[in-house]
Amino acid sequence: MPVRALWYRAGTLSLLDQRALPARTVVLRLRRAEDVAEAIRTLTVRGAPSIGVAAAYGMVLARREGRLGPARAAKLLRATRPTAVDLFVGIEAVRLAWEGGGDVEAAADEYRQRVVDECHRIGNAGAHLLRRAHRVLTHCNAGALATVEWGTALAPIRVARERGAHLFVWVDETRPLLQGSRLTAWELARERIPHAVIADNAAGHYLATGQVDAVLVGADRIARNGDFANKIGTYEKAVVAHENGVPFYVAAPWSTFDARRPNGRTIPVEERSENEVLELSGRRIAPGRSHARNPAFDVTPAKYVTAFVTPAGVLSPPELARALGRRASHTGGA
Ligand code: MRU
Repeated sequence: MPVRALWYRAGTLSLLDQRALPARTVVLRLRRAEDVAEAIRTLTVRGAPSIGVAAAYGMVLARREGRLGPARAAKLLRATRPTAVDLFVGIEAVRLAWEGGGDVEAAADEYRQRVVDECHRIGNAGAHLLRRAHRVLTHCNAGALATVEWGTALAPIRVARERGAHLFVWVDETRPLLQGSRLTAWELARERIPHAVIADNAAGHYLATGQVDAVLVGADRIARNGDFANKIGTYEKAVVAHENGVPFYVAAPWSTFDARRPNGRTIPVEERSENEVLELSGRRIAPGRSHARNPAFDVTPAKYVTAFVTPAGVLSPPELARALGRRASHTGGA
């Protein structure tokens, strides 16, 4: 069974501490919205769908505590990370129930279940893409840790494996915080899925030498025209895949699609602390006088995307634009 990133029961949100993996399995038990906000900010919980669900339960904890109203609780949680639109969608799902006098726990549970179900549907929709593409490259962690259960990019891999496919996964290490080598490799190793971790700057070599059949990644926010934000380094993988004729797929639940953003230029990109680049596991690796820049995401133009793997099936960028035109957007305040 894939791991579960978080779960809620009776006023306590339990999170698998993603900073401690793979060395230690630590479960944190949170009872205050402020602690949930801090967990999101510090990447204790991370990955667009997971932070949306965590924030939804953060709203529930705020409601139970009674110190903050819905607007202030939503503001506190929204201020944590700007790029993943799921964060705002999850907060909004509970804020609406709270302000309408509804059952906030039921709203958060319903939101979590929707994310989990959609990721499972992504797995089923994407698995057939891997019938002939057995060597898959992925970037960052778009597995169960990032989505509560199943994953987005990892869901088709899991489903294809269940159906008997013999897959091999190239795992980009994903500097600076190593979500690939720490988290994706951990998920794959637990399930005995064959894989190799590669340095980020090795991906071009494997793409250019015919050793990758498909690239499959998640996303943090997908604009109406199909431009999308994902972990820094995704853009260059997409360009190199395109240059070498390797299909490039983006898997995401509906909470990651932002129909209000016409294109990628309008997606906010989070810039994180320079220490994440200057240090490795808390140890300084750059000279004391050096500074760094640390954008956490980049934006990949839709022209590099072969198809989006969605809960409604595999859609080309023009099909996606039409599907988004039909869907109402619920991204309140994003
Ligand atoms: O900074 P992170 O670790 O939260 O970034 C996560 C990613 O970029 C993932 O690829 C994205 O959220 C998709 S998760 C299904």
